[in-house]
Amino acid sequence: MNNNVVQNITDAVTYIKSQSKVKPRIGVILGSGLGHFVSHMNVETTFPFNAIPNFIPTTVEGHSGNLILGDIDGVQLVVLQGRLHYYEGHDMNTVVFPTRVMAALGIEILIVTNSAGGYGDGMNAGDFMIIEDHINMMGTNPLMGPNIKTLGPRFPDMTQAYDKELLEMAEKIFRAQKVFFHKGTYIGVTGPTYETPSEIRMFKSMGGKAVGMSTVPEVIAANHMGLRVAAVSCITNLAAGISAHKLTHDEVTVTAKRVEKSFCDFLKEFISKI
Ligand code: HPA
Repeated sequence: MNNNVVQNITDAVTYIKSQSKVKPRIGVILGSGLGHFVSHMNVETTFPFNAIPNFIPTTVEGHSGNLILGDIDGVQLVVLQGRLHYYEGHDMNTVVFPTRVMAALGIEILIVTNSAGGYGDGMNAGDFMIIEDHINMMGTNPLMGPNIKTLGPRFPDMTQAYDKELLEMAEKIFRAQKVFFHKGTYIGVTGPTYETPSEIRMFKSMGGKAVGMSTVPEVIAANHMGLRVAAVSCITNLAAGISAHKLTHDEVTVTAKRVEKSFCDFLKEFISKI
């Protein structure tokens, strides 16, 4: 990708708009194991990442890498099935490029989902957590470098990075569906190693309840561009030192699969109520 981020976004958006009539108001990023959500949509167009100018394919198992346009109950949306992670070796501008393209397609609201390790009191694998706030432990920020004024301000406010009204709406839906959930702070790390038990103890003492290797860059880029954001983690495993066994990506995907139906039911209802 060349350095002209705005031109690259414009080229991607022009291509997508030339192939699709959908005018999405909502964007959704699906985390590992959640790709099945698209089977609940009326899909108009599926773009493999490598078909869109300047999009980079994903390299992670369980993330297929498609941008999908369509609707759920008449609500038009754009969905990223799979995402780019910093640990794949992409620079941050590349990681947040699909989020910026969704914003430039006209979405007002971004719903982010992810898998995370849980260390909040009373957490179990398979629980959900509504993200109220985050701590960026990635050691960098997607907005580093000259500010791109057409995207947003130099120093974006992050006081309400996760929109309060959307959080309340998410809570109501989990309650109505009788699905147990937590609320808390997500700590974003680079990965790809899982954490050490000492790191998890530190994150807990910092006020976190879940840790994961995504979401923070996209949420920063979305706030920069003025989107309202909601995010929900699937606690796919207890974090290192809390879990009685070693962590594996298999455990993450198996748990995500196990709770996929409740996660999809939640997302469907959330989108149709927004
Ligand atoms: N740590 C970091 N990222 C994760 C985890 C974890 O335990 N589980 C799923 N994503």
